[in-house]
Amino acid sequence: MEKKKGLRSQQWFGRDGKDGFIYRAWMKNQGIPSKEFEGKPVIGICNTWSELTPCNAHLRELADYVKRGVWEAGGFPVEFPVMSLGETLIKPTAMLYRNLASMDTEESIRANPVDGVVLLCGCDKTTPSTVMGAASVDLPTLVVSGGAMLTGKWKGEDIATSHLWQFSEDYRTGKMSKQDLNFAEACMCRSSGHCAVMGTASTMACMVESLGLSLPGNAAIPAADSRRKVLAHLSGNRIVDMVREDLVLSKVLTREAFENAIMSNAAIGGSTNFVVHLLAIAGRMEIELTIDDFDKFSNKIPLLANLMPSGKYMMEDFYYAGGLPVVLKELAPHLNNNALTVNGQTLGENCKNAESYNSEVITTLDKPFKDDSGIVVVRGNICENGAIIKPSASTPSLMVHKGKAVVFETIEDYNARIDDPELEVDENSILVLKNVGPKGYPGMPEVGNMGLPPKLLNKGVTDMVRISDGRMSGTAYGTVFLHVSPEAAAGGTFALIKEGDIIEVDVPNRKLELLVDAEELAKRKADWKPLDLGQNRGYVKMYIDHVEQSHLGADLDFLVGKSGSEVSRDSH
Ligand code: FES
Repeated sequence: MEKKKGLRSQQWFGRDGKDGFIYRAWMKNQGIPSKEFEGKPVIGICNTWSELTPCNAHLRELADYVKRGVWEAGGFPVEFPVMSLGETLIKPTAMLYRNLASMDTEESIRANPVDGVVLLCGCDKTTPSTVMGAASVDLPTLVVSGGAMLTGKWKGEDIATSHLWQFSEDYRTGKMSKQDLNFAEACMCRSSGHCAVMGTASTMACMVESLGLSLPGNAAIPAADSRRKVLAHLSGNRIVDMVREDLVLSKVLTREAFENAIMSNAAIGGSTNFVVHLLAIAGRMEIELTIDDFDKFSNKIPLLANLMPSGKYMMEDFYYAGGLPVVLKELAPHLNNNALTVNGQTLGENCKNAESYNSEVITTLDKPFKDDSGIVVVRGNICENGAIIKPSASTPSLMVHKGKAVVFETIEDYNARIDDPELEVDENSILVLKNVGPKGYPGMPEVGNMGLPPKLLNKGVTDMVRISDGRMSGTAYGTVFLHVSPEAAAGGTFALIKEGDIIEVDVPNRKLELLVDAEELAKRKADWKPLDLGQNRGYVKMYIDHVEQSHLGADLDFLVGKSGSEVSRDSH
């Protein structure tokens, strides 16, 4: 069977005889004329649209604008769905399925006649899952994010997801009425789009822009702003040229691009979830990146964006102030400005004309909002492979601290005891939550910023040191050590902490230490037994058996790396 050379899609659509007939004839039931199959770049629009992912519910409409751009540039767009992960509804946690969704994306791209891909994503996990999957295929790839919601308005106040944590504590302690809580619920999510703060979804949108994977401006245009549609249209134009230029993902996702993303994340006060997602993407690209790189490259970067939860403003304000290009331009002395981006220009070229329109929202390197930003990696016997903390969201006086551990063996144990007035806890205690890591929960849920005991909230305590092997919502804040590795379920020292043990926190010296002698720990280790999670079949069993620890990105071990876009067998 003769195959036309050149475009990958022509291995399907360019064939003669029975095979070509089959490949084209069924597509024609959608009303597609023959000329579309004659050597036009076929652009897959990989859509994470779902009505069960409210943050992405507008992505079918946005896909239409990508299609317009593809048609206009002489390509042939084909939209296809992949597993969509909605943060608010999926149980037990969307993170359990990030790797599954990435497999769906990878196999859907490789198995089909596409030459280039536009990834449409928004809610937290939909960005890393699709980028991870696309990275393992390595075709020309461009990301269009869905954009953030408009700022919520409640009783004259700007509100967004980060307020939820305060509302919930105020409601628990009786400071907020049920009526006010219901009213706030109706005021917060007033347009399409994802969370309006610099939570994980916005962090991921900034990540793709700083990696060079999207057109400039992608990170901050609100979902409801017509300029988001223009960006989608232009992205449709551009992906067709990327195919013609053979600008594959691996030409953009270099080690330099990853360093840029880490520095940019520090400057915007991005979510701690950034760490596991960026590590997983680097793993797929076979780029050597370690958890220590996050501390190393964050270290010299101050906070330049005043955005919730580290600061005051919302994503809408960020866009009106100039958005991520302003931050990237300000960071130019630190960044790898020659890193190539999807529009064929370098990161430096893309940002050189950016201007801040509001210095309250985006500032300059010489007048930062905070000197400490980014991610700090601590180590000690509790976390031999590391744990992370986001200083910009923490209480400075707790950065060096010693306290007695109040230990919760599981999230159920925490839920059962935290409201108990008899709980032995004071403001100097350290709350420890075990078995919420990748294997232990399983799926590493966002429970690390566990709420404080009501008896302390009522005394006016607003923050305490908390340590867990889980994650924290990107919209949350507090002096919270996360991603302890090895996790409790993997039998690390973290599993051996007992009620009343003294823990020493020393963030300036990157230390998190359990002050219990080695002999006693050896005794506890001999008595330790892993939890029986009762998961004997299906995806969850495969996940538990194969998920890597968080300091490696919590990918499945057999998914690390890439297989390229070749299909090894061809039975037609
Ligand atoms: Fe989807 Fe926050 S719930 S981004």
